[in-house]
Amino acid sequence: MDWSTKGIATQAVRAGQRRSEEREHSEALYMTASFLFDSAEHAAACFAGEAEGNVYSRYTNPTVAMFEERLAAMEGTEAAVGTASGMAAILSTCMGLLQAGDHIVASRSIFGSTSVLFNKYLHKFGVQVTYVTLTDMNDWAQAIRPETKLFFAETPSNPMNDVVDIRALAELAHQHDIWLAIDNCFCSPALQNPAALGADLVIHTTTKYIDGQGRALGGAVCGSKALIDEVVGFLRSAGPSMSPFNAWIFIKGLETLKLRMQAHCASALRLAQWLEAHPAVERVYYCGLPSHPGHELAKQQQRGFGGVLAFVVKGGAQGKDNAWHVMNETEFLSITANLGDAKTTITHPYTTTHARVSDEEKARAGIVPGMIRVSVGLEDIEDIIADLARGLDSLTL
Ligand SMILES: Cc1ncc(COP(=O)(O)O)c(C=O)c1O
Repeated sequence: MDWSTKGIATQAVRAGQRRSEEREHSEALYMTASFLFDSAEHAAACFAGEAEGNVYSRYTNPTVAMFEERLAAMEGTEAAVGTASGMAAILSTCMGLLQAGDHIVASRSIFGSTSVLFNKYLHKFGVQVTYVTLTDMNDWAQAIRPETKLFFAETPSNPMNDVVDIRALAELAHQHDIWLAIDNCFCSPALQNPAALGADLVIHTTTKYIDGQGRALGGAVCGSKALIDEVVGFLRSAGPSMSPFNAWIFIKGLETLKLRMQAHCASALRLAQWLEAHPAVERVYYCGLPSHPGHELAKQQQRGFGGVLAFVVKGGAQGKDNAWHVMNETEFLSITANLGDAKTTITHPYTTTHARVSDEEKARAGIVPGMIRVSVGLEDIEDIIADLARGLDSLTL
């Protein structure tokens, strides 16, 4: 069956399924470390790559393969590979494709652990990184060196929702024989397909929207077969492979992804509009709002604006205390760093996700002490608003 011509919801439910002789309707969970051979000759042939078949779950596993095929269909890429976490996906991409002496140009607005991986660990092995402003195409162009191999960006960015023109960035990258990798965490394949806009690699933390219920860690890299084979080569030797159990969770997560993303987007927009009108709120960062600088671009390259927004509570020097007051006054919203969960989560970026970033960098990125990030969940939006209103309404400004 060629799923590439079907819609994304059909792909999410059907693509990649391999039924066993038991004729199970739902995808089977192959919870096994290794696989049996018919004979010593068969084992030798499988190990030599002369016969097709599973050998060991660090290499391949049928449940993981079902997840990979389904995700690749949804991202519109030739191939995909599952990894143990989103960070394992980024690490495996770099280890599979780069070597000492290579150079990465990355957006400044990337996940904190990704910067640590680049600055501390890739640096140890001779890979250099230059950081640029996500939305400034001149900055990207000027940072290119002869040894630049990879552009790396998240769009929309966390937590400011800045949006980069993926097509323009891919064109610039390809003029210089550079690969473009987009971390598609905020949108998921339901809202954005970077490969269709020219990205060579699409990276996921499946821990977020693809699971959607905060249960399991996982990641994935999608791209051409040639690039993914290089990533797989590293993964099967080094070991940060996806567990079959987690793959099964992500398969089930993909089935409801489109519906969930529509609900996340609708509620996030309602919350963003309410916050924008609240007298205790200085500014709201959500690319679904016409006031956001990335709104028009997001409308063009995304099928929805996503479920994560940030807002700044008024208060100047009192900003942090006021933000903490709003967070501490909530009754059921979860104070936790994860996002993309059915449960709404709230975070104080200044003292948590961005705590290790220097004050100067935080100021430059607009991460101020009064900021709160909300990953809007699937609870009733009226209840989410009421939970935030308790603290916002009781602030003395
Ligand atoms: C944008 C982004 N990329 C990558 C990661 C890393 O994913 P994981 O926690 O699955 O390793 C995260 C985690 O929060 C993230 O927000």
